[in-house]
Amino acid sequence: MLQIDSLCIEFRQERARVAAVRDVSLALAPGECVGVVGESGSGKTQTFLAAMGLLGRNALVSGSIRFEGRELLAAATSELNRVRGARLAMIFQDPMTSLTPHLTVGVQMAEVLVCHAGLSWTAAKRKALDMLQTVRIADAARRMRQYPHELSGGMRQRVMIGMSLLCEPALVIADEPTSALDATIHVQVIELLAAMRREFRMAIALISHDLGAVHALADRVVVMYAGRVVECAPATAIFAHPRHPYTAELLRCAPNLSAARLNRMPSITGQPPDPAEVLPGCAFAARCARADARCRIERPLLVQSGGAAQAACHHPL
Ligand SMILES: Nc1ncnc2c1ncn2[C@@H]1O[C@H](COP(=O)(O)OP(=O)(O)OP(=O)(O)O)[C@@H](O)[C@H]1O
Ligand code: SF4
Ligand SMILES: [Mg+2]
Repeated sequence: MLQIDSLCIEFRQERARVAAVRDVSLALAPGECVGVVGESGSGKTQTFLAAMGLLGRNALVSGSIRFEGRELLAAATSELNRVRGARLAMIFQDPMTSLTPHLTVGVQMAEVLVCHAGLSWTAAKRKALDMLQTVRIADAARRMRQYPHELSGGMRQRVMIGMSLLCEPALVIADEPTSALDATIHVQVIELLAAMRREFRMAIALISHDLGAVHALADRVVVMYAGRVVECAPATAIFAHPRHPYTAELLRCAPNLSAARLNRMPSITGQPPDPAEVLPGCAFAARCARADARCRIERPLLVQSGGAAQAACHHPL
C-alpha cells in the first residue's frame, strides 16, 4: 500500500547541505502497523512528511513514494490534497498545533467531511459527533461546541485521532502521538489507537520514542540511525533477538519494556554523527563495541539477517 524506495532528503543550509534521510526503502501492507524508532534526528519524521508533501522549502528530495499505486513525490498539490486527510492522515505530537484554534471542534471535524467526502453540513456534524463518541469523548455534544483550548491535552489528542479517522483512511501516520501526554493518558491513547485499528482496519506508521507503545502496537519495527534504516524485522523477532548492535543497545537501555511505560527513547552512550558529515563506513562505528577496521571503511548494506529480519551490519548479533 505504501512503498518508499531509495528516499533521500537533503536540506539546503547556508554553507552546506545536510542529509537527513539517506536511501531509505520501506513498505507497509494494508492493515499493518509498523513502528519506526530511532534517536532524535534520525530522519523518522522527515521520511513521513515527505509522503504527506509537507517537507520544508529548503528540502531536496529524490527517490519514490508510492501510495495505493500513485507516486506522491511527483504529485501536484491538488492531487496530494485529495489523498491527504482522506486516504492518508497524520497525527502529530502536539494536537494544539494541528487543530485550528478559532474553530470549534465540531466545525473543524465536519469541515473535513464536507471537503473530502462531499457530505452536507448536517450529515457531517452528525458523523463528527458519532466519531467523538467512537474515540471515547464523554459528553460529545458539548465538546463539539468547544474550542481546542477548552479541552485537555489527552482529549485534544483523541479529537485528532477521531479527525484523522473521519474519512476512513487506509493509512494513519502517528508521529509521537503520546509524547506530549502524561503517563496515564499516554496508555489510554495507545489503547485507543489499538482499538481504532481493530475497528477501522487501517494501517499505522507509529513513529515513537516509546518502545513500550511500539511493543504493544507494531507488527513490524523499522529502526533508523543517522538517516538510514539499520534494522527492520517483525516486532516479536526484534524484541526477542535484535540483530543490529544499535537496536540491541536501545533495548538494553529499556529493561522495563514489558511494563510498556517507557515514554522516552533510552539514551545510549555517545552521539550520532553530524548529519553534514559524510562517513565512509558504518555511521554507528564510533559507538559500537563490535566495530572493527572494516566497519570504518565499508558501509554495511541492509541485508537478510536470519528469518524475516534485515540488518545493516557487518557483524550482526
Ligand atoms: N527544514 C530543515 N532544514 C534543515 N534541516 C532540517 C530541516 N528539517 C529537518 N531537518 C533535519 O533533519 C534531520 C532529521 O529530522 P527528523 O525530524 O526526521 O528527525 P526525527 O528522527 O523525527 O527526530 P525526533 O525524534 O527528534 O522527532 C535532523 O537533523 C533535522 O535537524
Ligand atoms: S557494521 Fe560494524 S560498527 Fe556498524 S553496527 Fe555493525 S559491527 Fe557495529
Ligand atoms: Mg520526529
